[in-house]
Amino acid sequence: MYLGVDYYPEHWPAEMLEEDIQGIKELGANIVRIGEFAWHLMEPNEGVFDFSFFDHVISKLKERGLSVMFGTPTATFPAWLAKKHPAILSKDENGQTRVFGGRRQYCFNSDVYRRYSARITQKLVEHYRNETAIVAWQIDNEFGHEGSDMCYCEQCHVKFQQFLKNKYKTIEALNEAYGTIFWGQTYNDFSEIPLPKKTITTHNPSLQLDWARFRSHSVNSFAHEMTNIVRRYKGDHQLVTTNVSGGFFEKWFDHEENVKYMDVVSYDNYPVWGGLMEPIPPAAIAMAHDFNRGLLGKHYWIVEELMGAQGHNIIGYLPRPNQAKMWSYQAFAHGCTHMLYFRWRGMNRGAEQFCYGIVDHSNRRGRKYKEVQSFFADIAKYESLVQTDIQADIAVLYDYDNIWSWRFQPQSEGFDFTNELLRLYTPFYEWNAHMDVIPVTRDFSNYKVLLVPALQIIDEALGKRFEQFVAQGGTILFSFRTGLKDKQNNIHFKKVLPGYVNDIAGVEIHEVESLAAARRMKLIGEGAFAGKTSECSVWRDLLTPVTAEVLYRYGDEFYPEAAVTKNKYGKGTVYYIGCGIANAALRDIASEVLAAGGIWHIQSDEGVEVYKRGKGSEQYLFVMNHTGEIKRFQTIELQPYDSKIIKIS
Ligand code: GAL
Repeated sequence: MYLGVDYYPEHWPAEMLEEDIQGIKELGANIVRIGEFAWHLMEPNEGVFDFSFFDHVISKLKERGLSVMFGTPTATFPAWLAKKHPAILSKDENGQTRVFGGRRQYCFNSDVYRRYSARITQKLVEHYRNETAIVAWQIDNEFGHEGSDMCYCEQCHVKFQQFLKNKYKTIEALNEAYGTIFWGQTYNDFSEIPLPKKTITTHNPSLQLDWARFRSHSVNSFAHEMTNIVRRYKGDHQLVTTNVSGGFFEKWFDHEENVKYMDVVSYDNYPVWGGLMEPIPPAAIAMAHDFNRGLLGKHYWIVEELMGAQGHNIIGYLPRPNQAKMWSYQAFAHGCTHMLYFRWRGMNRGAEQFCYGIVDHSNRRGRKYKEVQSFFADIAKYESLVQTDIQADIAVLYDYDNIWSWRFQPQSEGFDFTNELLRLYTPFYEWNAHMDVIPVTRDFSNYKVLLVPALQIIDEALGKRFEQFVAQGGTILFSFRTGLKDKQNNIHFKKVLPGYVNDIAGVEIHEVESLAAARRMKLIGEGAFAGKTSECSVWRDLLTPVTAEVLYRYGDEFYPEAAVTKNKYGKGTVYYIGCGIANAALRDIASEVLAAGGIWHIQSDEGVEVYKRGKGSEQYLFVMNHTGEIKRFQTIELQPYDSKIIKIS
């Protein structure tokens, strides 16, 4: 099991190297990640390559038995490169160039940038291909993070037009697909197509979705080019990974595609960052782990795990004693097998002065050091347990085309895709059930339950896959706006909603209302839910049951239509959650679904997460107290932010 820290030896006086390595060893670490922002150190002047600094560092690390993950340095290019080739710099929507000074300001479509990136990547990897201490390569650093996946420069414009030409072949085909007859936007030639920058009102939705796909293609073709270079020149003993940042549903690139040629996914786990006054909810942290595990469908690494408070110019919440340790347990519970903390020591100069590490600027080893040290000692005992397979009967489905479509047209001021996914995920999380978070294109036929949040793009083929899944006995929970659109981002014509799934849902939708985040509408239970009430926000589909039974109805004098329904179809069941329903009501539904499917779950108090792991007769529970209060789980007392691994058989 690799346990370690992100280390930047170039930030510190050379004479501190031995002392740092000693401290890292005493922490219980056996790996460090280095190099990912050090392009200038490796190529101080154009074409002059010098790896002597890292040769020395690696030899010292190796002497002490530490392994190395090396980051290719393309996220921060040297100043000489920006000066010589200013066209490598990306541009924001206002045409403003992102100047040298921050990071990730390169345009993914710059051929010049690709050439220089390919060269430094190749030189670096070739140089270390036989280095046994280097066990893994990290490609770049957090592709597309901090808004770097969006660029509106001239190179992007030309390549976008080429991308559309490759896709549609003729301009007539594009005009027809987009419906450019609307507002007289018909194009005579691909060269007339604009970048969807700011305009009056809004751009054509099909154009916008193609723009998002083009952004994804831009990021991913760069990532694939770099990955191929690393694969070609690396040693056989070296793994290839990249570190996925948080906020993955807000990115303009398809993550599954991004990591497709990696050996393993790595994730940067920051449950609190910047000015946040509280960490994100425990369910959201858990979901991020399930998402990263889902990218390649296997265990993953964490190469940046938060220990101290973090932020650039604003910082917020300080993790409470043992809270960061508890987040580390949670990560291992959900399928992480190797972990590195960000970062060994906070830097006193440069843009990340307030990204606190394990050791602070005072260079004293304090509370955080001890917390990491005790975690490493504890988790190392569970090496074989954390390697066991995770079986989930429930899949949560997402689709980047759908997510982007919502981003351009949120329809409700309260709409946020991540929130809608968490709306379905959270009640099952609270029952401690296992879930995989996977793309809708993945084979889902072996799951028992599908959670399908706000999937407004459903074509006929996908509708058929859902139909077969339910006919054969599966259960699906759809939420509002299901099946509204086609792959072109146009609304289905001559189809009653919910489009290609209306038969299996057993409902029709003739009218809808946007509720925004603050507006609440009452819901009244019916049938098995009679006597219960709830409320909703964000959106409501007015459901007309055809074969479905009503579970909740809107408490509205004008439109008291059905809000939540349940339909039997074939051997299976479809729930249609037509609104942004409150959590308590969904917890009841989750409980019914789990019981009906015979899916493992367990009761725990609010704020206490339980995750089952094991193999055969050796079964364990990871128990995490996400709260600052003393809690109990069965007979066990949990101190604030406590975590335990309990053997149950
Ligand atoms: C990550 C990034 C690191 C560092 C860290 C600060 O997003 O990969 O380089 O900036 O955040 O918290």
